[in-house]
Amino acid sequence: MNYNVAVISGDGIGPEVVAEAKKVLDKVADKFGHKFNYEHILMGGASIDVHGVPLTDEAIESAKAADAVLMGSIGGNTSTSPWYQLPPEKRPEAGLLKLRKSLNLFANLRPAYLYEELKEACPLRNDIIGSGFDMMIMRELTGGLYFGERQTKEIDGVMTAVDTLTYNENEIRRVAVRGFDIAMKRRKKVTSVDKANVLDSSRLWRKIVEDVAKDYPEVSYEHMLVDNCAMQLVKNPGQFDVILTENMFGDILSDEASMVTGSIGMLSSASLNETKFGLYEPSGGSAPDIAGKGIANPIATILSAAMMLRYSFDLDKEADAVEAAVKQVLKDNYRTIDIMPQADKDKIKVTQVGTSQMGDLICDRI
Ligand code: IPM
Ligand code: MG
Repeated sequence: MNYNVAVISGDGIGPEVVAEAKKVLDKVADKFGHKFNYEHILMGGASIDVHGVPLTDEAIESAKAADAVLMGSIGGNTSTSPWYQLPPEKRPEAGLLKLRKSLNLFANLRPAYLYEELKEACPLRNDIIGSGFDMMIMRELTGGLYFGERQTKEIDGVMTAVDTLTYNENEIRRVAVRGFDIAMKRRKKVTSVDKANVLDSSRLWRKIVEDVAKDYPEVSYEHMLVDNCAMQLVKNPGQFDVILTENMFGDILSDEASMVTGSIGMLSSASLNETKFGLYEPSGGSAPDIAGKGIANPIATILSAAMMLRYSFDLDKEADAVEAAVKQVLKDNYRTIDIMPQADKDKIKVTQVGTSQMGDLICDRI
């Protein structure tokens, strides 16, 4: 089959890791008889440099016209990059938020999985790691604080800033349904995370989740307060299957969950709307400090491309092949610098490789 993929390389390590994901997709195309057509579009700092804005209407239209979007990362160093001298709505991140909203990508899946081979990179003690963990964070992505009205103004001579957190029942229901659907394909457990002891939006969240849960009698579910969840993630990560939560909590908890797996460079993500369309990007950021050095870990982006094969194109066999190749490369003890074992260096013989070598090694195993 022929698939049209809009590609946003973006900023920082984005172009380097996206190049490897394309390499892997082309290997899949070769091996399984498909063709991926790429159309590159600009977003973030790369778009600001050319167009003066982080995302143009034409770019949104190109993304919409594609079958799926593959993305690297956007943004730069917030203290030093001139992009952050611009007003907030012209900064790189505003482009990403606009794209999420324009494409209605409300369901953000962020898997956090501990690879047996990367146990050494996990910062948790062995007794806490236990038999490992494998969770999926389902983060609501187009509502809440990110998209509420905001303002900074002087009131009676005092500078005052306001951000608003709004959710309506439909926004909560559609993402909750996605969360329970995913749980049905996994270990059938949902932990819905909120701050219902303080926030009205969380109390509504809880009510709607309970409502949705009635349609999934096989799924066991619980409510957990977000502060407790942050603690439980480092105390007993193995207890989680699907974590279902709102936008801001999901942003924070997904970084935490990824760090307990050892490296944010390993984690993929998918942002989906009501159709098969999705945007696929690594969970990590643009890492401006290591950009251009050829050392970034491309695995998160490669696994995001695998998610694209699975969720947007229904190419399960192909996605399995990519995921198996990643596992194999780790088994064969190849590592990028971020996942090099810190302790007990001598116990395992690992070979450190760069971004493009890692891409090649994964292609060889497909
Ligand atoms: C993420 C990022 C974004 C977010 C930023 C870049 C706006 O942190 O995808 O988690 O907060 O959603
Ligand atoms: Mg984040």
